[in-house]
Amino acid sequence: MIDVSSTLAGRQILLTGGNGFLGKVLLALLLDRYPDIGQVHLLIRPKRDQTAEQRFETDVLDSPPFAPLLTALGRAFFRDKITVWAGDAAQPNAGVEQPGWADGIDLIIHCAGLVEFFPPVDQSLRANVDSVVEMAALARRLEAKLLHVSTCYVAGKADGFIEETEPIPGFYPNRSSLNDDSFNAAAELESLRDEIRRIRESSADDRAKNEQLIAAGRRRAARWGWVNTYTYSKSLGEQVLAQTSGLGWTIVRPAIVESSWRFPFPGWIEGGRTAAPLVLMALSGMTEWPACPDIPLEIIPVDKVAAAIIACGALLLTGEHRPVYQLASADTNPFALGPLIQLLCDEARFVNPNGSSDSKIPFWLRPSFGLRFLPASRIRENRQARARRIETSRRILIAIQDKLKKTPIPANGLLDDWIASHRTLALQAHLRDQTIDQYMPFILENRYIFETRNIRDGYARLSAADREKIPWAPETIDWSEYWRENQIGGIRKWVQPEAVRNWSVQV
Ligand SMILES: NC(=O)c1ccc[n+]([C@@H]2O[C@H](COP(=O)([O-])OP(=O)(O)OC[C@H]3O[C@@H](n4cnc5c(N)ncnc54)[C@H](OP(=O)(O)O)[C@@H]3O)[C@@H](O)[C@H]2O)c1
Repeated sequence: MIDVSSTLAGRQILLTGGNGFLGKVLLALLLDRYPDIGQVHLLIRPKRDQTAEQRFETDVLDSPPFAPLLTALGRAFFRDKITVWAGDAAQPNAGVEQPGWADGIDLIIHCAGLVEFFPPVDQSLRANVDSVVEMAALARRLEAKLLHVSTCYVAGKADGFIEETEPIPGFYPNRSSLNDDSFNAAAELESLRDEIRRIRESSADDRAKNEQLIAAGRRRAARWGWVNTYTYSKSLGEQVLAQTSGLGWTIVRPAIVESSWRFPFPGWIEGGRTAAPLVLMALSGMTEWPACPDIPLEIIPVDKVAAAIIACGALLLTGEHRPVYQLASADTNPFALGPLIQLLCDEARFVNPNGSSDSKIPFWLRPSFGLRFLPASRIRENRQARARRIETSRRILIAIQDKLKKTPIPANGLLDDWIASHRTLALQAHLRDQTIDQYMPFILENRYIFETRNIRDGYARLSAADREKIPWAPETIDWSEYWRENQIGGIRKWVQPEAVRNWSVQV
C-alpha cells in the first residue's frame, strides 16, 4: 500500500502551468488535501504589465477555485506553502536567474502547455516540446522525478480502444504496423526547426509568416495522422521525454478536461478549450450536428484529473509508477454523443421554448429544434444552402425597404435592425462552422475509447483514506446529472460571458 500523505510530507514540488485551468485545481487540491507538503514552487511567466507575483495573486489566489480554500485555510497558509518563481518552462533552468533556486526539489509536475489546436507551429513547439526538454534536463540535474501532463489525443486518428502500452518512441497515428519505423522524433524536430527558421528568415511580412507557421503545423500533423498541431506537438514532447535516459518519469494523459465534479465546488470551469464551445452552440439552438451519435465523448472532470495527477506523483516518488496513465471515462462509464446532444437540445428548448429569442433574427432564419445527426458532406451542403438563404433574405429585405421608402408609409429604418442582423448571422455562422470543424475529429471522424487500467491499478495500491481524499472512480458519475448540474451551469456561469465577448458565439 502507498500512503500518499507520508509520501508527500515535507516534499518540494515544482509545478508549471499552475495558473492555468487544470493547474489551479491541482494546486488547490494538493494543498487542501496534503497540507504537510514541504513547499510548492510555482513557475509563472511574467507578462509585460504584470510580474509573476502579481499574476499569482490575481490569476491564482483570487480566482474562484481558491475562494472556498482561502476562507477555510487563510491566505497566509498559501503564501507560506507556495514560492513563486518568474520564469519560462521552455528555457534552460526554467529561465530563473537565481542560482540554486531549485535545489531540493523532489518532483516536477509539468502541467504547462499550449492547448490551442492550430497556432503557429513555433508556439506549439516551444510550449509542448521545448518545455519538456528543459524540464527533463532540470529534473535530471536535480535528480528529481518528472511527471509530464500530456493528452490522450496523442493517439491521433484512430478508431476504437487506445491502449496505454503502445510504445511511445517512433509512434505516429498513420503507422501501418509496429515495425514501421518511418517516424523519428529527433529527425522530425530537426526538419521542423529548419522549416521554422526558413519561414522566419523569409522576406514575408509578419502576418504572412504567421500564416505559414500555422500551415506548416497543420500540414505536418496531417501528414503523420495527428488531428491538429496541438496533439502533434504533444506527441513529440512525449517522444523526447521517453528517450531521455537517467530520469524517473511518468506521463499522465487526460482526455478532454471538463468542469469540476465536486472540488473546489461543482461546475468550476475556465476557458474555451474544453467542450464549452460545443455546449454553447447546442444551447443556442444548433440542431444539425456533424456527429456520430454512438461515439462516446471522452471527457473527465478537472478535479478527477487533479486527483489522479497527485496519485501518480506519489506512485512516481515511490518508484511504483507505470510509464503512461490515461485519464478518461469511456472504458468504464461511456456517455454517447447521441443522448448527450439530445440532453443539451432539451435544455435549450427548456430555456428558450420558441427557438432563438433574438427578435432581430427573422423567424424564417431561426433554428428549429428537430435534432439531426448528419455526415460531413451533408453538413457542407447545408452550410452553403444556409449562406444562400441568409443572402437571399437580406436582399429581399433591402428590396422591400427600398420600395417602402418610395411610398408615403413612414417606414424609414423599420427594417434596419433585421437587415443588419443578417451580417451578424452570417459571421456567427462562419465562426460556428470554424469551431465545429475543429471538433469534428472528436465527434465524427474518430471513435476513441481510452484504456484507463493503469490508473485503476494505481488507485488499488492507495490507502482507503487517500482514495477518499483524492477520489478517481469516473464509473460512479451519473453523466446526465453531471451534464445538467455541473457542466451546463458551470459553462453558463464561467465560460459564456467570456465567449460572448471573445468569440461572438450566439447565445
Ligand atoms: N484542457 C484540456 O482539455 C486538456 C486535456 C488534456 C490535456 N491537457 C493538458 O493539461 C495541461 C494544462 O492544460 P489547461 O487546460 O490547464 O491549459 P491552460 O489553462 O491554457 O493552462 C496552460 C498553462 O501553461 C502555462 N504555460 C504555457 N507555456 C508556458 C511556459 N513556456 N512556461 C511556463 N508556463 C507556461 C500557461 O501560462 P500563461 O498564462 O503564461 O500562458 C498556463 O498557465 C496542458 O499540458 C494540456 O496539454 C489539457
